[in-house]
Amino acid sequence: MKHLLKLEDWSTEEIINTLNLADQLKYEQKHGIEHKILKGKSLGMIFEKSSTRTRVSFEVGMTQLGGYPLFLSSNDLQIGRGEPVEDTARVLSRFLDGIMIRTFEQKEVEALAEYGSIPIINGLTDYCHPCQVLADLMTIREFKGKLEGLKMCFIGDGNNMMNSLIVGALSTGMSFSAACPKDYMPPKHIIEFGEKYGNGKFEIVTDPLEAAKNADIVYTDVWASMGQEEEKKIREAAFAGYQVNKELMAVTNKDCMVLHCLPAHRGEEITADVFEEHANEIFEEAENRLHAQKAVLVECMADEMPEKV
Ligand code: CP
Ligand code: NVA
Repeated sequence: MKHLLKLEDWSTEEIINTLNLADQLKYEQKHGIEHKILKGKSLGMIFEKSSTRTRVSFEVGMTQLGGYPLFLSSNDLQIGRGEPVEDTARVLSRFLDGIMIRTFEQKEVEALAEYGSIPIINGLTDYCHPCQVLADLMTIREFKGKLEGLKMCFIGDGNNMMNSLIVGALSTGMSFSAACPKDYMPPKHIIEFGEKYGNGKFEIVTDPLEAAKNADIVYTDVWASMGQEEEKKIREAAFAGYQVNKELMAVTNKDCMVLHCLPAHRGEEITADVFEEHANEIFEEAENRLHAQKAVLVECMADEMPEKV
């Protein structure tokens, strides 16, 4: 049985195979070729936080694959009233064929996998966002034709996005640089992962212009993530210089892409002009959530691989 709890659990080969499958499913969907290979299977989608892209891509993706998606808000589930995740896992495993969960603590996702007996997919925790990064890597490959040798630069908070981007970039042969304020660096073990697998191509600095130099992809995310609403004011002050703008783009490589997981806050982590200039990349990235999530669903839940037509 295969889970997607965090990206570091997947090998480079598993990541690349998923990207290849996502490309295949995207091509086939656009040419009217359907694969109902999850027919008769149900996916529970537990949301303890808001979502547009993750919810809709999994719901539509599951339907396109012939399966049945159930949206389960924690406001309505007993989990929201304190039923332990260990019990929820054992109950839902008897009804469903897979669970996608968006929640706060990573340990909740790990507990679902430990106590349940069906595949668990992480749809974002405070720690990581592996599904988004698979769509990001897919988009970079689509625009640049390769991943290996490119330089990805992240500007902003050492948050769930940055953690998964470090793993995704370094696992696929990219180099990675980031600029974060010193109190907002990623956790120690992620920095250790970067140092171990970065082969000298991993750096985190505090100066955005230093990090962005010669970048092929610039990535940013909100200054205050879901659950950090009360820190908004403090974070606005801390991240004031950490913006993707024209000055920053001027030090990057020619044809540098800009990606954003969305939702975006124009005037905060990115200026409106840079956002609009790169809107075709950013919205292709959003579309690719659908194709990448279908590939993850197939990898984790299908009994066979879709035949290449
Ligand atoms: N990028 C992303 O996960 O978007 P949602 O929060 O809308 O799902
Ligand atoms: N870091 C953001 C990502 C949203 C997709 C958050 O956790 O809110």
